Amino acid sequence: MAEIRIRKTDERIAGEANVRAFLERQNVLYEHWDASKLPMELRNKFSLTDEDKSKILSTFETEINDLAGRRGYRTWDIIALSESTPNLDELLKKFEQVHTHTEDEVRAITAGRGIFIIKGDDETGYFDVELEAGDVISVPESQPHFFTLMENRQIVAVRLFIEPAGWVAQPFDDPAFV
Ligand SMILES: [Fe+2]
Repeated sequence: MAEIRIRKTDERIAGEANVRAFLERQNVLYEHWDASKLPMELRNKFSLTDEDKSKILSTFETEINDLAGRRGYRTWDIIALSESTPNLDELLKKFEQVHTHTEDEVRAITAGRGIFIIKGDDETGYFDVELEAGDVISVPESQPHFFTLMENRQIVAVRLFIEPAGWVAQPFDDPAFV
């Protein structure tokens, strides 16, 4: 289950009901899939073949179609990051910049962990959402954010998109970022 950390106060929010209520107030979609549906051999595998990726997508076919049907996503794929990803440090450097998109950014974590850093309302400021397998999040369109890995530097996630133009990141320097 996801956990929240408010960056300027270091306050942590845990527990399903609290996390859901907080994210709802910040207009961030949060849902949860049953990650134990994933075949055992894929639960701790972060370097994936095309066949592995197809297997993950077919395992969560019902959940993906449900989400896509409700929210208009038209394509989806799998992203996997780990120490075996070429140029991981360079990639993370690129990710770790506050940016916006014209489309929301949806990730369903199927293995490993990751953090979305998202700009909340004026009172809250930036907050971290620490995600684990089963967590599904959508950062709203035009809301400043970035993504990074956690200490174990391993994640597999399903990404869902409406159209390619909406994926383009528009980085900017936000003086409010702490
Ligand atoms: Fe993004």
